[in-house]
Amino acid sequence: MHKLPCLKLLSIFAISALISPAFAQHRHHNNSGTSASNPAASAPWMNTTLSPDRRADMVLQQMTLEEKIDLLHGQGMPGWAGKPMPNANLSNGGAGFVLGVPRLGIPVIQMDDAAYGVRFSARNGRYSTAMPSNLGSAASWDPQAACEYGGVIGRELHAQGYNMSLGGGVDLVRQLRGGRTFEYMGEDPILAGTMVGNRIRCEQAAHVIADIKHYAMNDQESGRNQYDAIIGKRAMQESDLLGFQIGISIGHPGAVMCAYNGVNGDYSCENKYILTDVLKGEWKFPGFVLSDWGGTHSTVKASAAGLDNEEPLDTYYGSKMKEAVQSGAVPMSQVDDHVHRILRSEFAAGIIDNPAQKSVVEVERDLKIALHVEEHSIVLLKNAHNLLPLDPAKIHSIAIIGSHADVGMISGGGSAQVDPPGSTNSAWQSHVWFPPSPLKAVTALASGATVKFDSGSDPAAAATLAGQSDVAIVFVNQWSSEGMDLPNLSLPDNQDALIDQVAAANPRTIVVLETSTAVLMPWIEKVGAVVEAWYAGSDGAPAVANVLFGDVNPSGKLPITFPLTEADQPSPQIVAPPPGAQGRAAVMRTGVAKPTFTVHYTEGLKVGYKWYESENKPVLFPFGFGLSYTTFSYSGLQVEPDATPTVTFTVKNTGDRAGEEIAEVYAGLPASANEPPKRLVGWSKVQLNAGESKQVRIAIPQLYLSIYDEQQPGWKLAPGSYSFMVGGSSESLPLVQKVNLSAAIGTSSGQ
Ligand code: GLC
Repeated sequence: MHKLPCLKLLSIFAISALISPAFAQHRHHNNSGTSASNPAASAPWMNTTLSPDRRADMVLQQMTLEEKIDLLHGQGMPGWAGKPMPNANLSNGGAGFVLGVPRLGIPVIQMDDAAYGVRFSARNGRYSTAMPSNLGSAASWDPQAACEYGGVIGRELHAQGYNMSLGGGVDLVRQLRGGRTFEYMGEDPILAGTMVGNRIRCEQAAHVIADIKHYAMNDQESGRNQYDAIIGKRAMQESDLLGFQIGISIGHPGAVMCAYNGVNGDYSCENKYILTDVLKGEWKFPGFVLSDWGGTHSTVKASAAGLDNEEPLDTYYGSKMKEAVQSGAVPMSQVDDHVHRILRSEFAAGIIDNPAQKSVVEVERDLKIALHVEEHSIVLLKNAHNLLPLDPAKIHSIAIIGSHADVGMISGGGSAQVDPPGSTNSAWQSHVWFPPSPLKAVTALASGATVKFDSGSDPAAAATLAGQSDVAIVFVNQWSSEGMDLPNLSLPDNQDALIDQVAAANPRTIVVLETSTAVLMPWIEKVGAVVEAWYAGSDGAPAVANVLFGDVNPSGKLPITFPLTEADQPSPQIVAPPPGAQGRAAVMRTGVAKPTFTVHYTEGLKVGYKWYESENKPVLFPFGFGLSYTTFSYSGLQVEPDATPTVTFTVKNTGDRAGEEIAEVYAGLPASANEPPKRLVGWSKVQLNAGESKQVRIAIPQLYLSIYDEQQPGWKLAPGSYSFMVGGSSESLPLVQKVNLSAAIGTSSGQ
């Protein structure tokens, strides 16, 4: 286990305390925009035994129209579109803030981005832990790890004076080249929804309003403010929307952030079908919808469609909203529902009863959690001749090559960017590396071996070093960011050639991938081992070293498919905006009423493995795949087809060391359902010592076996024969059993 030397920790605290005047200014404030003594402390709505809805109604009755409208929009974001922030003195320095009602004890909502850590720490002189990328955390398939992930972020937001998170990205990875793939939770709605829901659940437990985003179909960055996602309702319900539905049902976020793009003709933030018919109607979501920054396009239409709060400013929901209410174009009942939802979420998340208080972040605790999550997110993709784990007693020289492995591990850009401790303010799309370096982390475990670094900028020189070493570890990266998409899935900057030359010089070559998404591997047959480390976060390098040297037995499994070729993907390339399409600022300035170009998701609900299997396209590494330093076997499958079908089976550790196996359950639906060959319906992470067996029992929620009927509308179980399959990946399912299920589950018989 690696710990930051205490001197480093002290320096982090010193930076936080000395550099941030904001820290000093707010010391006496609870930073909620109200004085430490709450003037409404004895008001009836401060009775914590009352429900959030009841308390919200009591406050609403006291509010003036101006106070109500203040809650319906943000007060700006530092540097946003060159506009001044009218109440800048109340900002906590985050991505946005919404005025409170001090006389009624309602605090300012202080929001900040928090995809994989709290943003803007450097410019506010604070410390933030960078967790592994969200996609990386999904590779752990571990809801408890997701909870710990959310807990770190929730606690650090609260300690930095924020009471609302803008994390929780869960758009399905339908487009692997999407620039924000690292911010999302993979290609399967049940895995993605379960992992983001548990993150949100534990983030919100720290008394910050959590949100889930970007609702919906926000699957590419190119032309994100103008494209219109075209997809059938059933396909959307059984893919992208299902991830949100599960995430909301598990996490109960106080907020949903609607996306920039359009869906079937209307912008997401004024789309009645997704905001009102589905989110607030079918799912009965009680919280509020806030727009993405600049994602609001109207007043009357957006209010009627279900948008509750405009961010970051008041272009449509400020004076225009007041005029619309006064003219009757927006009924007061709509405004009251918007305000009720916002207040309800404030009470439900506990930000009124537990105001954000600036405090010292628990750096060591959070770094340990970041290390633990990364150790369980790393996916071992190849390990020929058991090249790994490295045995320090037998390794006398190690070459560390490429990807600034003498500095740290790469991280994802855009609004998710976390700043390393003590750094200067990171720009919008800068390449940011998190220490400690892989060189340092490997040296710490190599006990006496000679460890040398080569930047990889000259492949021939790197190959020479590799040829002189017992093993060569090549770190490669695929940086990406919000606001851009990847041109393809190939490693950039000539890194494929670097790997080729190093592997030619030394077959005992290990490739460590620091990627946002899937990558093509033309060199796969030439290297000994491949490890996917994702964007590894603070203390990521020690986690990678712990796996390379076997201190940790890797257990991660892919949350996305790695395709064999670029052309095998559902879309040959990203759909680019047409010439003359406007950027976000222009769209905001000109008030574009409709999306300007279309992206047809013709694959429909066949996202990821469902596509490759339906199209009989072999893949490089399948969804759910990951190796271990031990081996596992499966036996004894039984399926009880009752109200909640239950799957029971045995997993055995057939190797010579302890390990964790993510045992996966898939279901094939009756042919009449007209579905892809199979879908993930459950899993369990099993810890087993060498030779140990355990029986696993997994209940399958009916929803996960159902199909969406547009006519109903709603979910239903198609009667007929279901095939349940169990194994270690979507393409390794040794156990199969068919059972008959009827619409009224429980009156069926096994086959
Ligand atoms: C950005 C992102 C969103 C972020 C918001 C505030 O454009 O799309 O994820 O939370 O604006 O920074």
